[in-house]
Amino acid sequence: MSTDNVSASILKGKNDAGYWEMDSLAKLVTPIQNKHIPVYKWYNFKHSFSRNLVLSILSSLNLKEGDIVFDPFCGAGTTLLASREMGLKAIGSDLMPLSIIVSNAKLGKYSKSEISRRLREITSLPSKNKSVADSVIHPLKKYFPPTEFADFLLLRDNVMDIENVKTRNLFLMALLSALEDASFTKKDGAFLREVNNKVTKPVRKAFSERMEIILQDLPFLNNLPTVDSYAILSDARRTGLKTDSVATIITSPPYPNRHDYTRIYYLELMLGFFQDYSDIKELRYKMFRSHVEARKVYEPTGYEQPAALTQILEKINGRDLPNRKVVETIQGYFEDMYIFLRETYRVLRHDGTMHIIIGDARYGGIAVPAGKLTARIGTNVGFTVERIQKARDRGNSPQQMGKFGKVSSPENIISFRKI
Ligand SMILES: C[S@@+](CC[C@H](N)C(=O)[O-])C[C@H]1O[C@@H](n2cnc3c(N)ncnc32)[C@H](O)[C@@H]1O
Repeated sequence: MSTDNVSASILKGKNDAGYWEMDSLAKLVTPIQNKHIPVYKWYNFKHSFSRNLVLSILSSLNLKEGDIVFDPFCGAGTTLLASREMGLKAIGSDLMPLSIIVSNAKLGKYSKSEISRRLREITSLPSKNKSVADSVIHPLKKYFPPTEFADFLLLRDNVMDIENVKTRNLFLMALLSALEDASFTKKDGAFLREVNNKVTKPVRKAFSERMEIILQDLPFLNNLPTVDSYAILSDARRTGLKTDSVATIITSPPYPNRHDYTRIYYLELMLGFFQDYSDIKELRYKMFRSHVEARKVYEPTGYEQPAALTQILEKINGRDLPNRKVVETIQGYFEDMYIFLRETYRVLRHDGTMHIIIGDARYGGIAVPAGKLTARIGTNVGFTVERIQKARDRGNSPQQMGKFGKVSSPENIISFRKI
């Protein structure tokens, strides 16, 4: 596929590993660069990889017009947008409705004048007076300065009234992305932390600033090739995609590190999508088993646990652990990985490739080599492992460092082929 749409300064030639030499792989597996690239910067999604990583992988493949790129854990839509830049069709799926809104917002085409007009309408609405704002009773009000929560609800209700679905989703994404600046919270690794002494921005100001960035970026988006790309709410373990339909998969599943997306994006999910706490719990239970509250959803029929994993689980079980459920969680994680790998093997066409970015973890000082185990399980379902590339080493948590010293866990890119 042509790389004409991609800035020449990015693509410099292939490195020994066969990928395009761009930036260090360590940077490419993080969202750092996306923060400076139009459209990619619209949502600060902590667990994204970079646009350049996707461009790098796509440029190393011989894809043709009409080929489909798939990201079964699409997060903030990085794979989908980068594929569109290359003129390739893309499908994404994710279990979190926030991801679907964010991904699809980045794949739209919009009229700048229509978006500006709507923005003026919404931001010129009079705020509720103080006594009305004070009388609002809501469990999430405590995360905002008094009166600001009422203003958020007012803006949200007006955004929700926008009839055009694409426009509504764009505004909703912008409003939810403003929560980071407008609330007393901070996303801290696996957690959403309450920071009561934080200097916040008024909701309306934070929202307007986000919308200004979006307006500036619209020409970039509107000039991208028109190809069919979209994200759907669906489980990576049961995609619903046709057998042999996908040319390549570029994705990053949750890592076995106990991060729970329903907690990290708690405010966004509760204020943008859900009616009450039971909805968020339901989602928490059915996510990939990377955290202790996720539950078994699908039977791993035919799965044989790798002997290396059995030994690791025995060792971890013998350690002093803050939560003994992690043993069951890690076991479940690789069962889910097996179900996911079987599903991706099914949807990939003959000779198709899959590129998985995945980080190892540590429990009780014992390494859980998620990359190698995933490669092993992938081989068991029929894939050929073409390459395991280490992108970077990540340090262990302060608690683990205090107990076991400084040790790092690699983050790898595994490339599979369906022969
Ligand atoms: C590491 S993030 C992906 C980030 C993405 N590559 C990007 O660049 O933004 C993992 C994603 O998996 C999603 N997820 C967790 N369990 C899932 C499941 N069973 N099916 C589909 N998505 C799931 C989470 O909601 C999260 O968005």
